[in-house]
Amino acid sequence: MNPTTFALNGQAVDLDGEDPTQSLLRWLRGRRLTGTKEGCGDGDCGACTVVLVEADAAGASRFVPVNSCLLPVGALPGREVLTVEALAQGETLHPVQQALVEHAGSQCGYCTPGFVMSLFAGYYDGELSDHAIEGNLCRCTGYRPIRDAAGALRRHPRAADRFTAQLAMPRTAPAAAALGSFHSPATLTDALALKSAHPEAAFLAGGTDLGVNLSRGQAVAPAFIALDRIAELHLIEPGDDAVRIGAGVPLTRIERELAGLFPALDDLLPWFAARQVRNRATLGGNLGSASPIGDLAPVLLALDASVELAGPDGRRTVALADFFLDYRKTVRAPHEILVAAILPRRGDLVQAGYKIAKRQTDDISIVAAAFAVARDARGRVEHARLAFGGVAATPVRALEVESSLLGKPLDAAAVETARAALARAFSPLSDHRAGADYRRALCGNLFARFAREKLGVEDAA
Ligand SMILES: Cc1cc2nc3c(=O)[nH]c(=O)nc-3n(C[C@H](O)[C@H](O)[C@H](O)COP(=O)(O)OP(=O)(O)OC[C@H]3O[C@@H](n4cnc5c(N)ncnc54)[C@H](O)[C@@H]3O)c2cc1C
Ligand code: FES
Ligand code: FES
Repeated sequence: MNPTTFALNGQAVDLDGEDPTQSLLRWLRGRRLTGTKEGCGDGDCGACTVVLVEADAAGASRFVPVNSCLLPVGALPGREVLTVEALAQGETLHPVQQALVEHAGSQCGYCTPGFVMSLFAGYYDGELSDHAIEGNLCRCTGYRPIRDAAGALRRHPRAADRFTAQLAMPRTAPAAAALGSFHSPATLTDALALKSAHPEAAFLAGGTDLGVNLSRGQAVAPAFIALDRIAELHLIEPGDDAVRIGAGVPLTRIERELAGLFPALDDLLPWFAARQVRNRATLGGNLGSASPIGDLAPVLLALDASVELAGPDGRRTVALADFFLDYRKTVRAPHEILVAAILPRRGDLVQAGYKIAKRQTDDISIVAAAFAVARDARGRVEHARLAFGGVAATPVRALEVESSLLGKPLDAAAVETARAALARAFSPLSDHRAGADYRRALCGNLFARFAREKLGVEDAA
């Protein structure tokens, strides 16, 4: 294969000369592969879902559904993509398509290719619960027939076919590549060298944040350094005292591989975007965007995480509590790459994460909160972390309230005092999602809920 070639529905396609910043969706439709639809262009509707054939950590092949509207063409060299056009053979539909037909799962059909591709990936993954289609919106059929189709697929044994044969093939991660000004190095050293050579270039990991700007045709940067082929950034290393999560690990892997280790993370990840986004979105990108409403920062703050940064002069580790400086400003220098987050393991913590948004699934937080508390044998608080997103210019801990809890038993009166103090602790903004008063009230009420649900303390209210 040429270094600028990728595999599309089993055929090698050379991308030499193509604009690397255009989305795969636009590129596909420009080539008359119009089965893949554009609904929103923002990662919200799933109409554009395609499947990447990726290597998993053990070197096996996996079908990974992603939003083609967020995937820049520059990320494709060396990769393999399946679109809805690959599924049927002549007049014979794929079992997923057949199930949708039999259960009347399509009316106008605009969303249908996206559902087909999500169900296709779930069919081979053995995961056909509602989560398989959580990132797909349908405006006219209603979800019951679509869920019926998924249910029928769950009940029938999967046939051995050309796709199971494809999955049986071992696979390696894509090698370093470059398409025009879009560089995809395979090592951290090369990424840092590229940044020195192209200081104006933007780092890009999963592209679920920057991909929205690219999809809207905004000029994000004159060049890109993609971090999604750097093996070191893809490591998850569970140790006795801490777990090190590579900054480039997609969130669905964290969900799967660390399930049960950090309950606050388990609580929040299912409400972070939808599956197609989580298949690409990374922890490094969530912290790298430095958004005050990024959902992972409150959890990592509550767990006393630190981050490792690599730059031309070496590496350094920074406590996440010292990472955020101001609105979208962090201590990360422009040439530094987030390498990993280190999460200490403490068996004595009671922890939980909460996300309040207008819509339960696939919505941006009004307030996200994470709490971690340890008590001594007599029930007195000896460790408290109360962290919030959406209430200040940066993700933030309620330091004074944390201190006020220390050394005291956490009873109904203490919870009530903390609730009132939390409702005064920050000066959030009002915006189209929620008013400042509501956000303030949430800070206190979520802590009271945590105390009730996880610590068994009924609040006085
Ligand atoms: C539909 C939709 C729903 C979303 N829902 C949520 C949600 O519920 N909660 C939430 O918090 N976010 C949400 N997001 C935002 C986004 O998905 C997350 O912030 C995600 O974690 C970004 O990761 P990424 O790898 O895709 O980042 P990218 O887009 O690749 O990068 C984001 C920023 O981080 C920088 N960066 C990335 N990796 C590194 C690194 N290793 N070192 C230094 N800088 C780096 C990039 O330069 C860029 O500035 C949503 C986005 C979409 C499109
Ligand atoms: S077009 Fe809506 S998610 Fe891509
Ligand atoms: S069938 Fe019309 S949007 Fe789903």
